[in-house]
Amino acid sequence: MACYDVLQAITERRSIRKYRPDKVDCNLILKLLEAARWTPSAKNAQPWEFIIVDDKAKIEAIAKIKGSSWIASAPILIVAVSDPSVSPVYHMSDTAMALHNISLAALKYGLGTCWIGMHEWKEVKELLKIPPNKTLVGALAVGYPDEKPPAKERKPISAIAYYNEYGCSIK
Ligand SMILES: Cc1cc2nc3c(=O)[nH]c(=O)nc-3n(C[C@H](O)[C@H](O)[C@H](O)COP(=O)(O)O)c2cc1C
Repeated sequence: MACYDVLQAITERRSIRKYRPDKVDCNLILKLLEAARWTPSAKNAQPWEFIIVDDKAKIEAIAKIKGSSWIASAPILIVAVSDPSVSPVYHMSDTAMALHNISLAALKYGLGTCWIGMHEWKEVKELLKIPPNKTLVGALAVGYPDEKPPAKERKPISAIAYYNEYGCSIK
């Protein structure tokens, strides 16, 4: 899907867990990082850093650590790290938003993504030589989709939003 409309991107994005083996061009990765750069952050601290991993052995090692074999089919992982010293409260939420910006921007280039939860996993930090003072927030698998998963159900608005006070339903 080449997608330019923001709402379309938000609603049509799916987590992709099966990728074609095709390489992802470096210029596209730079476009994704550009999308990350423009993420809002508390006090504009920009507490994020990203490791682009295309080393097959490292991707396979991460798949093994995680216990998810599908990860090995991803040509690229973008691993997100945050710096608590520059934004003690918001470093993780800012960085998570940056990963989501990447996942939306990826749609424009026909790329699929999937979050890989790995908060502060010691083995991954060691594997990628992430300094101990930086927080491993998570990773995104990135590649050309080889599946079209159906949409997963979402909670209705009435179950997640209130009017003026917590618990007051929106009529
Ligand atoms: C913080 C976070 C961590 C996630 N971790 C994983 C994961 O480790 N493995 C996985 O297959 N999907 C992971 N997901 C993807 C979710 O399972 C997925 O977003 C959810 O099921 C909704 O599906 P959708 O993204 O296709 O709409 C993660 C998503 C988020 C936001």
